[in-house]
Amino acid sequence: MINKSVKHKGVIFDLDGVITDTAEYHYLAWKKLADELNVYFDREINENLKGISRIESLEIILKKSDKFFSEEEKYYLADKKNEYYKEMIKRMTPKDLLPGVVDLIKELKDRGIKIAVASVSKNAKTVLSNLGLIETFDYIVDAEKIKNGKPDPEIFLNAAYGIDVEPKLCIGIEDSKAGIEAINRAGMLSIGVGNYETVKGADIVLKDLSDPLPILNLL
Ligand code: BG6
Ligand code: MG
Repeated sequence: MINKSVKHKGVIFDLDGVITDTAEYHYLAWKKLADELNVYFDREINENLKGISRIESLEIILKKSDKFFSEEEKYYLADKKNEYYKEMIKRMTPKDLLPGVVDLIKELKDRGIKIAVASVSKNAKTVLSNLGLIETFDYIVDAEKIKNGKPDPEIFLNAAYGIDVEPKLCIGIEDSKAGIEAINRAGMLSIGVGNYETVKGADIVLKDLSDPLPILNLL
């Protein structure tokens, strides 16, 4: 819920689909694997994978298959998808930042707002390095240490703790349904970017971050 009198002191960014368009690479890597397995997979199913861990994403994809996969085979397949994904992110550079991200980060830093990244991706640090942002954030959540993925609020609460800002004074930015639910359950103000249907549960929905004003007005 938006309370205009609250001056927010921290902003927590999701990575894939918020800072950069790796959400598209995740889709393309899953699509390649699904095609190889002859399993139906499309962009609509993909919307439900956003913010969801690698192995849980695979479980959702395999629901469309009538074959049985052992745990070992599932880990092998998840790993295969990750190899496709890693190949795609190798070529990333700061040019791959989404519109408005650099300006928003600069403005937040100038105003003394603490910033963090809350991504469940085990590739987050590689992506942030390639984007030239590894030193930029005050705190980056270590996905290996998070027990409960989104929509559980754990990852956002961990980020708030990492920047030493009370959750109710934090803003979370997400492109996934699970992520918006996690922010809301963490008691933070939620900003959804991207696909409207996916993020409509957010307090504020934006097309992207190219206009920082709706966020700056909350500080
Ligand atoms: C999230 C993405 O950020 O990270 C998901 O939205 C992805 O699509 C998840 O499955 C895990 O990423 P990785 O890089 O560890 O496979
Ligand atoms: Mg995302």
